[in-house]
Amino acid sequence: MRQKIVAGNWKMNNDKAETKALIKGIKKAIKKLSLKNTRVIISPSYINLSAAIKKADNSKIEVAAQNMHQAKNGAYTGEISADMLKSINIETVIIGHSERREYFNETDSILAEKMDAVLANGLEAIFCFGEKLEERKSDNHFAVVESQLKNALFHLEAANFKNIVLAYEPVWAIGTGETASPEQAQEMHAFVRETISKKFGKEVADNVSILYGGSVKPANAEEIFSKPDVDGGLIGGASLKAEDFAAIIKAI
Ligand code: 13P
Repeated sequence: MRQKIVAGNWKMNNDKAETKALIKGIKKAIKKLSLKNTRVIISPSYINLSAAIKKADNSKIEVAAQNMHQAKNGAYTGEISADMLKSINIETVIIGHSERREYFNETDSILAEKMDAVLANGLEAIFCFGEKLEERKSDNHFAVVESQLKNALFHLEAANFKNIVLAYEPVWAIGTGETASPEQAQEMHAFVRETISKKFGKEVADNVSILYGGSVKPANAEEIFSKPDVDGGLIGGASLKAEDFAAIIKAI
């Protein structure tokens, strides 16, 4: 069944004490919510994942990683493997965030390998994609998104999609304060669902959760989440404040 998800991508923010304090704040702020069929995920930095898991224990908060290397192990200084994540009980990992694509040269073919590694290890991926401003301005956004999906996901099997969440994050809306309008988000999400349907079938497409990310705030979350093909959000800046994150969760 398609799930509603609100996921916080903390990026390179929060030390250990701040991580624990923010989780405490989120726990308190969402305690009374029923959260039926809604998952709440946070993704602190690698170094604080263990502390976060401990702090989030016995709560409705799941802890995810922000990235993972595709190799099993070896001489990849500074990298983290699936086995390492599994060994501390991480079950979900963000793959292909635009900042990884842009600043760390993660290409579609690397992301295809990362997806293979995530899925082969029984982990769940939150797979991110989205066009840049110039690509939208030149009306290429659908073609760009289609090729990102094709290049990183089309070699997979339909059955893999039970472990995949999609996240449409237009690069021009990330951290800019500029959000895609609810109509722009719906239009792209419907296109993504259609693209997945054509390749993997209607059942897969109907069941996959597609999140929107890019300047989601308490003030605009409800309207974006009201769209039929928007199943939740991947939240950056606003996930760093317990009250704002909780308000966004309430909006779903
Ligand atoms: P902002 O919510 O800060 O725009 O970031 C979105 C994002 O990149 C989530 O992955």
